[in-house]
Amino acid sequence: MAAVHVSTHPLLVHKLAKLRAHDTPPPIFRELVYEISQVLFYEATRAVPLRDVPVRTPLVECVGKELDVKVGLVPVLRAGLGMANAMLDALPEAAVWHIGLYRDHATLKPVTYYNKLPAQPVMGLGIVLDPMLATGGSAIEAIRLLKQAGTPQVRFIGLIAAPEGVAALQAAHPDVDIYLAAVDSHLNELGYIVPGLGDAGDRQFGTT
Ligand code: PRP
Ligand code: URA
Repeated sequence: MAAVHVSTHPLLVHKLAKLRAHDTPPPIFRELVYEISQVLFYEATRAVPLRDVPVRTPLVECVGKELDVKVGLVPVLRAGLGMANAMLDALPEAAVWHIGLYRDHATLKPVTYYNKLPAQPVMGLGIVLDPMLATGGSAIEAIRLLKQAGTPQVRFIGLIAAPEGVAALQAAHPDVDIYLAAVDSHLNELGYIVPGLGDAGDRQFGTT
């Protein structure tokens, strides 16, 4: 069964309250998404493999380390975009592969409208990014597409999840570890996370 890591770092918990607040405007909302995502990215990459690399300091030759895996960031459009920016700034060598999915309002099922994943496997580690894990349908489909593209190791980073989404994702992809800032109470009758933060895409891009 996949592990679920929920960060309890006080600074992250502090920022999360501001992210949830209904009157946080899009510019601040985007900054908070950026800052929280970067912390989660460091946590999700804590155990990635390293290899030795020779380094000449101003004093001597020594041995340093560099990542021994090609990391691919896979933001789910739209709302995963702000998360990808934060992680790309932390690891500029990462590749970014976009997947476009939206959740049909009536059925709550994901509809794929864009897929730029590579035809051949190129990522050693693919990390799917989506702030909201609600029913789990979008994350499950994005990860299915990433695995279909031959990615050997996959992780999921989100900001807020419903217990229903976590359970669904664990059942569908038991090999994919999940990194989150919070697991909330439940989904409401419209499939929104409660207490949540509302619509993550609309709040980032000012389209409410
Ligand atoms: C939101 C969110 C996830 C999805 C989560 O996207 O960013 O992709 O809903 O819901 P699920 O777990 O029930 O699938 P939305 O469909 O609102 O698309 P948007 O980002 O384009 O607004
Ligand atoms: N998508 C969102 O943006 N928010 C939710 O609460 C659920 C799905």
